[in-house]
Amino acid sequence: MSRPTPIPTGIRPINWSTLPLEHMLHVDMIHYSDPPTLLRNVIPNVDEVVRLLERNAPYTPLGGWFRGGLDEDDEATNAMWFQNDWVHADLAVEGSDLFFWHEGVIEASKKFYDAEVIVPQSIYVNLMAAIDRAGPAHTDNPRFQGRDRSNSPMWLLRSMLWSGLFDRWSIVQSTSIWWMNDLDEGGAIYYWPDGPNKPRHEHHGDMANTSLIGDNHGMFHQVGPVGPYDNGTLLVTSRAELAPATDGSADWVVTDRGEERFRAPLSKYRVSVLWKADVYKNEEERKRQMADTLSLEDVARIFDEDLADKGRDLRFEIDRIDDVSFQEEIKAVYPEARPIGAAPSIYGDAY
Ligand SMILES: [Fe+2]
Repeated sequence: MSRPTPIPTGIRPINWSTLPLEHMLHVDMIHYSDPPTLLRNVIPNVDEVVRLLERNAPYTPLGGWFRGGLDEDDEATNAMWFQNDWVHADLAVEGSDLFFWHEGVIEASKKFYDAEVIVPQSIYVNLMAAIDRAGPAHTDNPRFQGRDRSNSPMWLLRSMLWSGLFDRWSIVQSTSIWWMNDLDEGGAIYYWPDGPNKPRHEHHGDMANTSLIGDNHGMFHQVGPVGPYDNGTLLVTSRAELAPATDGSADWVVTDRGEERFRAPLSKYRVSVLWKADVYKNEEERKRQMADTLSLEDVARIFDEDLADKGRDLRFEIDRIDDVSFQEEIKAVYPEARPIGAAPSIYGDAY
């Protein structure tokens, strides 16, 4: 039986009509397609966050998949988009429970997904300044039971997502983005709660101490430009660092290879804290899903069945997984959606 190409709506609907019968019998998928929830007055004492930020400095430029593998140490190719992890599998910085176990965020996630089990996974911090174009419009990177960044390249995980063939193994994730402050210029988040083919929404102007909670793995979103704009986008090398000044002032300073490049009070940087949690309908479902993992051979077999259904000659060859031309062939069969009305990105059309 041939299966129609899934229509990428960006909200990752569970399209029951395209799922094989075996999936329908075994899967109790969570349906996640609502607009995100906005929480206000999220952190009772924002000074505690400032202290967390100070204790965990310095912050370093964003790397990774946004930049298409660019990582020249000595070239000023990075916008002042700084980041740090506060919690992941092997790390939990002191004081991070303020976000990690936030009751309001966990409750909002349960409600959003109509789910009982929320398992917080990570906290990640962004500090940005002087970026006169938007970040890339994107959905966050997917994870599947048995397949994630520890054992699979990002292009493959994303092709798995957009193929719609692996929903049964998809780990549903809730994301909360919290903003510390409002900026004089820019700092908005754009998002597409109605799907990539519908107009974008914008959260701006009243962002301080709010969180947007929802499905950033299904919903496109984009960071708007961040002021100050007077000198355009300031670029730094990947060795640059952002940290509180050591001269007794209240400024935070960007230093790049020993030279000061920018300084401003913390309130002039766009500060956001990202929280992610795994979501399971209930405990029984969590156990069932965690016991059902995908091997690379499973991935190849499932792609191959679909490619054959589609009448394609292409087959998934595991030993070509690092071959760029093979990646492009697979990606062409399972293309990602592109949201309409996205703002021009500092990373061009790369994503
Ligand atoms: Fe994102």
